[in-house]
Amino acid sequence: MSLDKKLVADMVKITSSAAISCLKFLGKNDKELVDKAATDSMRNEINKLKINGVVVIGEGELDEAPMLHIGEKLGAGGNLELDIAVDPLEGTNFAAKNLPGALSVISIAEKGNLFNAPETYMDKLAVSGKVPFEATDLDFSLEKNIQNIADSMNKDIKDVTVCLLDRPRHKEIITKLNDMKTKIKLITDGDVSGALLVTDDKYSVDIFLGIGGGPEGVLAASAIDALGCKFQGRFLFKNEKDISRAKKMGINDLNKKYDLKEIVKGDSIFCATGITNGDLVNGVNIKDNKYITETFVTHKSTNMSKTVVSEDTIKT
Ligand code: FBP
Repeated sequence: MSLDKKLVADMVKITSSAAISCLKFLGKNDKELVDKAATDSMRNEINKLKINGVVVIGEGELDEAPMLHIGEKLGAGGNLELDIAVDPLEGTNFAAKNLPGALSVISIAEKGNLFNAPETYMDKLAVSGKVPFEATDLDFSLEKNIQNIADSMNKDIKDVTVCLLDRPRHKEIITKLNDMKTKIKLITDGDVSGALLVTDDKYSVDIFLGIGGGPEGVLAASAIDALGCKFQGRFLFKNEKDISRAKKMGINDLNKKYDLKEIVKGDSIFCATGITNGDLVNGVNIKDNKYITETFVTHKSTNMSKTVVSEDTIKT
């Protein structure tokens, strides 16, 4: 079954409202405050919809976060049962410091079709749809992946662009990439957006890789699935607590490499609204007493991929 196209407008409204709700807290150097504004708004808006939703990717586990936690039931009821993945504020640092790149993100699929990911790190690989599926793999060496991308795109290694988070844990990868003389796009945060940069030539990114949040991986995967690109992820567990949580969620093979078809099944709708300006979309703007928002949207079954500009009159 496909998700009704009408749900796209509902999702755009949800992420746009969450983005707008962050405005007064931008640059206040308070990550929790701005995150709470986005989260409260998102819950309120989702609860207006006639759906039976359950959060499969949220703002933490039930015992840790009181807001939009994994397993939380959302919606005003009805026959439509949905899995909901949310990151009301992706890039809390960006919003707290009023820097580019903060987004409000949601993805929905029919019940049982979105991966229920634990709050742990994930080793990720996202690759342009122009590169054959079998050319890259999390189990290949970095050198092999880059060489295969260069070969399949008929370009020199020095013209391959790799995007990754600027983190000490990636020091070795960055050194190797420098040795190979590839182009590197280092991002300070926000790897949902980072992974999505492989989806269009205009971003000039051939591969996104490295370790970031697992929930962010699942969210990015749903848009990547709709856009015919490649995504793989493998969870990484820091401690016994992480491992026991993962096992409770049904993950028994801790080293398993997940392909897109295991992370997102069937139809999905993905929306990311800009809070501050970023690579993917512009942030919230105010013009003629209206909030103007930009939302990057994908809807797999209708092959939809577009940026929606919405207006919302400012209430005084
Ligand atoms: P938050 O918005 O939750 O702070 O996440 C920002 C982010 O950069 C994600 O995009 C990324 O997956 C994760 O943090 C990386 O985690 P870390 O900062 O621990 O390396």
